[in-house]
Amino acid sequence: MQSHAAEMDFHAARALLEWQMELGVDEAIGEAPVNRYALAVEAPKVVRDVPPSSAAPTTELPATAAEEVDTVAAARRAADASTDLAALAAAQAAYNHCDLKKGARNFVFADGNPAARVMVIGEAPGRDEDLEGRPFVGRAGQLLDRMFAAIGLSRTGPDAEASLYITNVLPWRPPGNRDPEPQEIGMMLPFLTRHVELADPDLIVLMGNTPCVAALGTRGILRLRGKWTEAFGRPTLPMTHPAYLLRNPAAKREAWADLLEVKARLRDKA
Ligand code: URA
Repeated sequence: MQSHAAEMDFHAARALLEWQMELGVDEAIGEAPVNRYALAVEAPKVVRDVPPSSAAPTTELPATAAEEVDTVAAARRAADASTDLAALAAAQAAYNHCDLKKGARNFVFADGNPAARVMVIGEAPGRDEDLEGRPFVGRAGQLLDRMFAAIGLSRTGPDAEASLYITNVLPWRPPGNRDPEPQEIGMMLPFLTRHVELADPDLIVLMGNTPCVAALGTRGILRLRGKWTEAFGRPTLPMTHPAYLLRNPAAKREAWADLLEVKARLRDKA
């Protein structure tokens, strides 16, 4: 197939690629063979903050002119300087050190009632969330809504008691819904930590492995689920992700037990 990549913008090229994947294409093969053994090994990239300059440099910048960026420290500074959720959303949206931002259509911050007693933390936007700019709006999200509705909680609930606040570890969709990289989780953790501080929920629910890695420093959701623990200084319950429940309907029985745990804990803490 002839490549028209040079004439396409990023989103058109990605839509074409996604369409091909839906048709079953699972490998990208170039038109000409490349002997990768003969290629020079690329040196690892170092992230640098390059001072603004109107003239493009003709030679590589000397080390003294380019300052290395600690991307986690930059995230922490931006997050800690945010005094409310609107400022935090703006600071995170403006953060430029995470490459996922370049491939995402939308920044996905949160949904629901920030005053809710329960805060749900998921993994990352998928295709539907990326298109809509809201977390958990696809099939898994619809199941999540039904699950919490069964214990009287919803994003649109009338008050803190009956509502839900929902966010993700990552605000940008990873390409092809791949698992988030540890370094992406690390960069976003200061924003998530501040997000929890500012929303100040009574309880946290971690949906799946990625939020367990971010908040508890460990994975193994099938071992962790249903056991109360503490994250960000508050009672926290890991649960299996609704996408997992869609693939494994038999696990819904345990998820229901976990939801009843949330309900009971809310009653005890009232
Ligand atoms: N899965 C998640 O973890 N979060 C979303 O927002 C959507 C799907």
